[in-house]
Amino acid sequence: MSYSKPNLDSKHYENLFNSLPSLEGKSVAITGTTSGTGFVAANASGKLGANVILLNRSSERADKALIDLRQETPNANFNQIECDLQSFDSVRNAVKQIEDACPNGLDVICNNAGVMALEDMATVDGYDVQMQTNHLSHFLLVKRLMPLLKKAAEMRGEARIVNHSSIARKQPKKTLDAKFLEKNGGNLGGNGSSLFFGGARWLRYNQSKLANAAFTACLHDKLSTANSKIKAMVAHPGLAETDLQSTTVKEGGMGKWITEQMMKVGQSREDGALGILKCIADPEVESGQFVGPGMGGMFTAVKGEAFCYPLEKFYDNETTRNLLWQKSCDAINESFDIG
Ligand SMILES: NC(=O)c1ccc[n+]([C@@H]2O[C@H](COP(=O)([O-])OP(=O)(O)OC[C@H]3O[C@@H](n4cnc5c(N)ncnc54)[C@H](OP(=O)(O)O)[C@@H]3O)[C@@H](O)[C@H]2O)c1
Repeated sequence: MSYSKPNLDSKHYENLFNSLPSLEGKSVAITGTTSGTGFVAANASGKLGANVILLNRSSERADKALIDLRQETPNANFNQIECDLQSFDSVRNAVKQIEDACPNGLDVICNNAGVMALEDMATVDGYDVQMQTNHLSHFLLVKRLMPLLKKAAEMRGEARIVNHSSIARKQPKKTLDAKFLEKNGGNLGGNGSSLFFGGARWLRYNQSKLANAAFTACLHDKLSTANSKIKAMVAHPGLAETDLQSTTVKEGGMGKWITEQMMKVGQSREDGALGILKCIADPEVESGQFVGPGMGGMFTAVKGEAFCYPLEKFYDNETTRNLLWQKSCDAINESFDIG
């Protein structure tokens, strides 16, 4: 039998949504909108009046999500562009289409898509499937979208880069290790799936979510030094009832029973989207902030309202920032200068 999701009520979503300003005249691109927090953020951005670009790999799920979004919010403008984060070529092709769809610049890129605790597997480019999907392809996407983000910032005063991390950025390691960013896909520790006792699938997820936070720290550091009007921020969703757990159980990353017990203390996918939604649309969120429920350990940050916190020193330090930037540029085989 497959994993059954609990039925969790949304407690904070409506209040937040009602507090957000119109996004009329803005373009918002979001990766991974076929389910979960990405679907919620896309729907909310559409309701707020944005031109919404859905960046998904091609699938029946993607087609169905587009139909659902158009049904739920018929007046919104949703435009789906194929973008498979397991392939750098696919990301480069997607950027060309985003350029055509956003002649007046891109106001927000929300790097939401993610996979969790998958097998030790290489992408077509040779990188770990989790690190490429969750971080490296987003790094390439942001690099290639910089001209569009600059254009929006010049025309409308600001643009935003939003990353999506996790409580898992802290567990089991707080140190980013170069080998996970190098061309070692399929050779990074095997398929151990123990969540609490160092399973290699979870260590690779931890490294990719640490990379999301470190990427934000790099961007904030470089953008603020350059006096840019582009902001970089990062959110985490706590423990949110999305398709992430179903996929992980199906792929052998987590047992059905333990997942069902764990998710009972989680929150709805709408409440899980509070962090990215604030980063996308709340005028009070500043560059260099981390947005999500409580910032304590695993058990205090699983649910609740999303608050803004400073970035944490375990990744916002010169050594980690330099490592992340250099290894990510090496992986995409492009330099990335902000100035
Ligand atoms: N839910 C939680 O408790 C939780 C906790 C911490 C962090 N997060 C983070 O939240 C983010 C959103 O996840 P979610 O919880 O909403 O899970 P989800 O419902 O599984 O959504 C993940 C999205 O990522 C997309 N995706 C996966 N591989 C992709 C690829 N190669 N190319 C393009 N898109 C791809 C999926 O699309 P497909 O339909 O193509 O697979 C889906 O739209 C992730 O970054 C995750 O790490 C979630």
